[in-house]
Amino acid sequence: MNIPKHIAIIMDGNGRWAKLKNLPRKEGHKEGANSVEAVVQTALKEGISVLSLYAFSTENWARPKTEVTYLMQLLANTLSKFTEEKYKDVKLVFSGRRKGLPNKILTKLDKVIEATNGKKKLTLNLCLNYGAKQEITDAVNKILAQGKTKITESDIEKNLYQNLPAPDLIIRTSGEERLSNFLLWQAAYSEFYFTKTLWPDFKGGDLLKAISAFSRRDRRFGTRK
Ligand code: FPP
Repeated sequence: MNIPKHIAIIMDGNGRWAKLKNLPRKEGHKEGANSVEAVVQTALKEGISVLSLYAFSTENWARPKTEVTYLMQLLANTLSKFTEEKYKDVKLVFSGRRKGLPNKILTKLDKVIEATNGKKKLTLNLCLNYGAKQEITDAVNKILAQGKTKITESDIEKNLYQNLPAPDLIIRTSGEERLSNFLLWQAAYSEFYFTKTLWPDFKGGDLLKAISAFSRRDRRFGTRK
């Protein structure tokens, strides 16, 4: 079976999941964090090389302060788990702007990145305070700072937050069908998989379904074949 090397996920629908159950929004995020754990374990088992998760966008700061604070706490708790035994083959990397993130998160992030640096099997690319337009702008500014006056595609690629293979498959949950400023550069030839399942309900079996749908796609990368 042709499986994707890199899967990227827009985890959407936590709030709606909670609303359907008459629960506070934070309960949706909490169950969403359980889905993160389930999906990482399944990705490991399936031999996926890179998993990018859109955990917090540059636009998410506009949410009520209590929700932002809760999400940051949840992230900090989840980050701590990545040094546990069951994540021993997971290497954590970060995509996003450091500026704006609380020091507590940055310190924890750096610690886990350092602690998991030698791990090989799965690279978990946590997109936090991430926006794709900002990523491309930051890349161009980095290149200009190197004194270049002419920019190639490869210059941009090398100066993105992470130098990873492009995502083969981008999944978005909750029935929304848009990219919302996620991996705009990297998505040039990605396959898309949209599901109505809300993120807190999305577990290992749902990832397997998405992988199986991907394996039936005919990818031509603009050629005729
Ligand atoms: C979208 O649901 C989800 C988010 C904005 C945050 C994603 C966070 C998690 C999945 C939990 C923690 C993540 C990690 C990596 C531990 P929404 O709130 O936009 O839902 P709605 O559109 O139904 O309101």
